[in-house]
Amino acid sequence: MADHAAFPTHASLPQIQALAAADMAAVDTLIRTRLASDVVLINQIAEHIVSAGGKRLRPMLVVLAGQATAADARAGADHHQLAAIVEFIHTSTLLHDDVVDESDLRRGRSTANAIWGNAASVLVGDFLYSRSFQLMVELDRMEVMQVLADTTNRIAEGEVLQLLHVRNPDTDEAAYLRVIERKTAVLFAAGTRLGALASGADEAVQRALYDYGMNLGYAFQIADDVLDYTADAADLGKNLGDDLAEGKATLPLIHAIAHSDDATRQRLRAVVEEGDSTAMPDVLAAIHATGGLDYSRQRAFDYARAAEAALAGLPETAAVAALRGLARYAVERTH
Ligand code: IPE
Ligand code: IPE
Ligand code: MG
Ligand code: MG
Repeated sequence: MADHAAFPTHASLPQIQALAAADMAAVDTLIRTRLASDVVLINQIAEHIVSAGGKRLRPMLVVLAGQATAADARAGADHHQLAAIVEFIHTSTLLHDDVVDESDLRRGRSTANAIWGNAASVLVGDFLYSRSFQLMVELDRMEVMQVLADTTNRIAEGEVLQLLHVRNPDTDEAAYLRVIERKTAVLFAAGTRLGALASGADEAVQRALYDYGMNLGYAFQIADDVLDYTADAADLGKNLGDDLAEGKATLPLIHAIAHSDDATRQRLRAVVEEGDSTAMPDVLAAIHATGGLDYSRQRAFDYARAAEAALAGLPETAAVAALRGLARYAVERTH
């Protein structure tokens, strides 16, 4: 355990990583050993996406929420298992998401669907989903299974809800928020809540960590949607403009549609209806003219602040400073 007196209220990313390092090494070992199958293609595809890394933010949240709420400030074997479960669920949704979004770059590599095709990606996504259920059952705790069953069901709803909004120029901010709650925020919330649950924290503390995770998830997804318009593709490890290309109106564009003059609004609506990525320069111009990026960043900051506020009742420990630091990181990141 690091000495928490050495931590400011918001730990920096290197401090956060150091605090979580030993636990994350255990989580990584678990992820690698529990990925295995005797079906070669499963190993190839799972290894392809897992060895590319990713930020491992969700499992880190489980571990830090565990440290923040445990009497001895330490995460243990159940936290590690829960962290691996959450990362498996996340990875499974990425395999499915890249098929749905027709994306060909993820974590700086060609996507599994680009290499092995859609069918293989979807099926290996299902393998990871069901492997996460096997890991859950091993924990033999009905509350854990309840949280995770509800969460995976909500994620699936979110993905379908999003599909219903594809190429729909009437998608407004409220509809957008309903989608991102389900497709992204609920998994963050489940992760931090389960971290507290595995520490034996009472219901009020679990609720605080849940609220933290939920708000962080919103902030993280809004930031991701800003990055889809603004990032450096090499840094991001994903192609820019994927959202526009598939006719997905995210917050910067929703804001632009709502605040442009009539002619521009008609043009933007047509671009969404057609999923016309060649219109990117016009779309970017409209987003800039209406302050769509600043507006979206501000919304992301608001959610990050709400995440921090949810931690107010917890003792000031290194892990709580790390969770606050992650709220800041979620909205300041470049990838
Ligand atoms: C990507 O999540 C999907 C979104 C919710 C935006 P991450 O950005 O956490 O993906 P990895 O795991 O780091 O690759
Ligand atoms: C994330 O949405 C969806 C999931 C929760 C898997 P995105 O479609 O924005 O994610 P990226 O940008 O492809 O990572
Ligand atoms: Mg996508
Ligand atoms: Mg995205």
